[in-house]
Amino acid sequence: MNRDDFNMLNKDIIYFDNAATTLKPKQVIDDITEYYNEYSANAHRGDYDISLKVDNKISETRNLVKEFINAKETSEIVFTSNATDSINKIVFGYFKNILKPGDEVLLTDSEHASLILPWFELAEELDLKIGYISLTHDLQVTLDNVKKAITPKTKVIALSHITNVVGDIRPIKEITQYAHDNNILILVDGAQSIPHMKVDVQDLDIDFLTFSAHKMCGPTGVGILYGKEKYLNNIHPIIFGGGMNSSFEYNGKRIYKDLPYLMEAGTPNIAGIIGLGSAIKYLNSIGMDNITKHEQELKDYALKKLKQLPNIIIYNETIKSGIITFNVKDIFPQDVSLYLNKYGICIRAGSHCAKMLKDEIGIKNTCRISFYFYNTKEEIDKLIEVLNNPNILQDVI
Ligand code: ALA
Repeated sequence: MNRDDFNMLNKDIIYFDNAATTLKPKQVIDDITEYYNEYSANAHRGDYDISLKVDNKISETRNLVKEFINAKETSEIVFTSNATDSINKIVFGYFKNILKPGDEVLLTDSEHASLILPWFELAEELDLKIGYISLTHDLQVTLDNVKKAITPKTKVIALSHITNVVGDIRPIKEITQYAHDNNILILVDGAQSIPHMKVDVQDLDIDFLTFSAHKMCGPTGVGILYGKEKYLNNIHPIIFGGGMNSSFEYNGKRIYKDLPYLMEAGTPNIAGIIGLGSAIKYLNSIGMDNITKHEQELKDYALKKLKQLPNIIIYNETIKSGIITFNVKDIFPQDVSLYLNKYGICIRAGSHCAKMLKDEIGIKNTCRISFYFYNTKEEIDKLIEVLNNPNILQDVI
């Protein structure tokens, strides 16, 4: 789908590393270039036309994000520098102020470092307990396992909507419903779901959501922090400076702005935010349901073919997203990746920043293929042809 929009697809590569970052269509690149060429001013509620245009563009993107995830208010959408930044701002700007020693945060061991390490830090600082929701034999999270993990001390559940290695889609709606009945808040990392499926924060009743522009056809350096207004009203900025204050005096008296500006100190990534707006318009023009459907077709096709190859171990056969995690028997994953690179095929190999998952799957490193709407069955055929080689190891050297 839409391959002509991607200059990167004119090169001799097959790009299967979309969970790391997606390619950018020319519409997004053109809009970013237009900003730098035609109205390259700062955003400060300007008194001259091009600065005003920047402000309008930022507001336009905020509104596009609001509509894209069906938030209630634009003030619930904060721009950050990436999903990791968003998570840190929520953990240290909100939860640090409401959690007490002995309170418990529930995670899973298949999470990315960005959803684990901030909690480890806060747990050490506040003497919190960290608990883990057990995964099923096929590495998924079920409501039953969530129920089993919850204790009277549980105050927060933090989990990805779709994990970056296993690619399992978590039953967020059921989890939030049960959690809210038990006065537990939910932080969802949507970095791997928002680019690939329709997500409605009101329907799923998510308290906090984070994601990144660069995994959804947008530029790097822009993240999104969504929070329900009633919680964001009590968030404290952890970065202070221009743009987030209305006044300050010698004696330290200061007045800060309202949301979302309160959380956006400093010159924003203007080009990045404009690019994010452009990316959302682009994804909307394709249709999120079409994207999901296409990826599922590719995933089913690739799985069927991969399973016919001897020596391929697949770790996440039953999951529904466009991520396949596998190994070639007896070959180190980075060697497989280097071998595929010889044929222009880009995949990711390693622990993928989910460093505790090794205890679930019994192996530290894996190869990961992750699809997006511009991938094709022909590209999968090429991957299969290249993997169907008994001498991979010799050929990599
Ligand atoms: N989190 C990104 C990935 O999974 C970088 O590859």
